[in-house]
Amino acid sequence: MQQINNLAAKIDAYRTQIDAAVQRVITSGWVVLGPEVKGFEAGFAKYLGAAHCVSVANGTDAIELALKGLGVQKGDKVATAANAGMYTTTSVLALGGEPIFMDVGLETQVVTLADVKKAVAQGAKFVVVTHLYGLAVPEIREIAEYCAAQAVPLLEDCAQAHGALKHGKRVGTFGNVASFSFYPTKNLGALGDGGAVVTNDAHTAQLVAQLRQYGWSSKYRVELAGARNSRLDEMQAAILAEFLPHLDACNTRRREINDRYRSEIKQTDILHPEASGDASVGHLYVIRCARRDALQQHLRSQQIASDVHYPVPDHQQPVFGDQYASITLPNTERLAAEILTLPCYPEMTDGEVRNVIAAVNGWEA
Ligand SMILES: Cc1ncc(COP(=O)(O)O)c(C=O)c1O
Repeated sequence: MQQINNLAAKIDAYRTQIDAAVQRVITSGWVVLGPEVKGFEAGFAKYLGAAHCVSVANGTDAIELALKGLGVQKGDKVATAANAGMYTTTSVLALGGEPIFMDVGLETQVVTLADVKKAVAQGAKFVVVTHLYGLAVPEIREIAEYCAAQAVPLLEDCAQAHGALKHGKRVGTFGNVASFSFYPTKNLGALGDGGAVVTNDAHTAQLVAQLRQYGWSSKYRVELAGARNSRLDEMQAAILAEFLPHLDACNTRRREINDRYRSEIKQTDILHPEASGDASVGHLYVIRCARRDALQQHLRSQQIASDVHYPVPDHQQPVFGDQYASITLPNTERLAAEILTLPCYPEMTDGEVRNVIAAVNGWEA
């Protein structure tokens, strides 16, 4: 079976570096918030061109703590796309905030400046944009300028877009603050959970650093309410530091696979994402097809796994009951019924890519 991801292949490819990282930590005897975390945070901030990186336990905590660092309080309205897996909405709810759901562009599947303006007109005091499937939001600069002019803080969720470039800048450096996930299958993934908050603002970085560790201002002295324990451990930081120098090459390989799918899948019932150069880091290759479920079944019969990211838009999640029944997001809802993710990861061989292409081309709709 061709899997959608293959962590074993990645571990195989980097076994020497992983073993060295683990040995380093074990030998040091320092396992939480030590030199590896510091080193990785500095390295990742430098890679992005940002002033501060504060690592946390996972990408959902990164969103929540970043929003808290921006000042989100109970009852605040926070705008988010509804097609990005519910992570931001979960974080907003955890803070007692109220999500304002934005629709997305049908072709790009990410929010536009017009979507953001509409949400702000609806009372959003904070905006979250998600660089989904690896694609830098095409209007991110314009959205950041607009939010700054409106004094509406902007969080970029970069969990799927480590390294994507727009206007010569990495995503995560346009808004006030950014969140990253290092879940193992991400473009920069650990061998366990991990996440980070990135910002150019020293005050926000300081707040998040306190929020991730009990609200301490110094050891055992709690100054900040609403904090928790959310730390990246030394082992994961050491492994991430080994993977970071390979991120650009891995992103190039993902783009190569994306390009092959785009040019060699000729099945005419399938719509492809547009080519975006280095504005995309090819995290997920998401095609569209009116008969998506039949296509997925065909691929399964050909031993090719696929997935749907994501099948249930946030405003239609069961947790809300009929709270948002009056909301319609036409593009988001249509996309949820049409999208299908094909296997794509840097260690995928040319032969494996060829098999996926052949299986898709062999489908008679
Ligand atoms: C867009 C997006 N945001 C946030 C997250 C949450 O990250 P984590 O799983 O590390 O909590 C993920 C991935 O899971 C994601 O894809």
